[in-house]
Amino acid sequence: MTATSEPPRNAVPDPGERGVFAPPSSFRMPWGQATDARIDASTLPDDIVLSVRDLTVAYRVRRGTVKAVRRISFDLRRGETLALIGESGSGKTTVALALVRLLVRAARITDGSVVYRRGARAVDVLRLGAAGLRHYRWNECAMVFQSALNALNPVIRVRDQFLDVAKAHGMTDRRAAEARALELLRLVQLDADRVAGSYPHELSGGMRQRVLIAMGLLLDPQVIILDEPTTALDILTQRTVIDLLRRLKGERQFALVLVSHDLALAAELADQVATVYAGRIVECGTVADMFYNPHHPYTLGLLNAVPTLSGDFRALDSVRGQPPDLIDLPPGCAFRPRCPFGTDECEATDPEVATVDPARSGVAGAGGHVVACLHADAVAKTFDRHASAARK
Ligand SMILES: Nc1ncnc2c1ncn2[C@@H]1O[C@H](COP(=O)(O)OP(=O)(O)O)[C@@H](O)[C@H]1O
Ligand code: SF4
Ligand SMILES: [Mg+2]
Repeated sequence: MTATSEPPRNAVPDPGERGVFAPPSSFRMPWGQATDARIDASTLPDDIVLSVRDLTVAYRVRRGTVKAVRRISFDLRRGETLALIGESGSGKTTVALALVRLLVRAARITDGSVVYRRGARAVDVLRLGAAGLRHYRWNECAMVFQSALNALNPVIRVRDQFLDVAKAHGMTDRRAAEARALELLRLVQLDADRVAGSYPHELSGGMRQRVLIAMGLLLDPQVIILDEPTTALDILTQRTVIDLLRRLKGERQFALVLVSHDLALAAELADQVATVYAGRIVECGTVADMFYNPHHPYTLGLLNAVPTLSGDFRALDSVRGQPPDLIDLPPGCAFRPRCPFGTDECEATDPEVATVDPARSGVAGAGGHVVACLHADAVAKTFDRHASAARK
């Protein structure tokens, strides 16, 4: 790493940048050179560990500017799971990467703040210098990338990959680091000694995913970001990983940002679910809000795309058409070209996120139910009608 916040273009990634960012058990806060990134933690509710406001990210490409993330705001509560759900290309991975500032050079965070808090201290991650950022990534927030199955170095045994990460983050006692690695491999229900001595290609996809989850836990992070943790796995292995994550969450109490296109996965693991469309959170609420009281047509479409055992509730179609070109978004609401509820008004106005229930938080996450739709009430009523018909 150079003294700037971005690595040089051809930098050889350090062990963490192969896919996992992990935090240590003894918390230190040397936010280093980045004193100007410190903010007053008392402005945040006590239970919020991550507070994102108006996060906006664009990629510069030859054809123009890809507006990948547009004014996304959410709060993440300690020990809770927020799932970001949406079709491929909706900007979920870009959000995740922005949270740990690991975007590619073509990307720019053009607006917003990401505040991370532990106890009485808080920092704006987007203003951290190189040292503070390195500390944040490794000591506070772990990320397992979407391409996790390829994230392990193919020519290094699993044990040595754990030791590399540990060493890079100040665990100088090799024996203790190795013992911790074996303990974590057992925790994720692997044959620890065998797996530690293996090369990644000797392991199945599910085993490698579990190795990466274990590596993410190496230094006891307060926040873990998992990008599509089950996508590349067969259905039985998916079940094992879901059960494992649920157990780990209960035991370790980390907060989780779960990125997935799979609503069923979110239903199983999340406390809060946000649907992401064309770079925006269009609805966010508890699992019960999203499944039993959805207010956005896109959420409705995603629900209808999940097969049910009874097959009754098919009156509404799943989401037809294609996601918009993020370089050339349609005017007004980006969902308009696919929306069965759309009106002329929707072409003139891009709806702001508004609370569904004024008695609850007006921000995505942290217990609120919010939606960005001009006709949210009509959408909710339609769902209600179809749901009651299906119950009869
Ligand atoms: N490195 C990149 N360069 C240019 N555009 C990118 C890059 N990565 C992602 N994008 C674009 O940003 C948008 C969001 O992508 P992404 O965050 O990967 O979505 P998701 O994770 O929901 O599939 C897409 O239109 C994608 O083409
Ligand atoms: S604002 Fe209009 S077009 Fe957009 S989701 Fe709501 S009804 Fe559909
Ligand atoms: Mg992705």
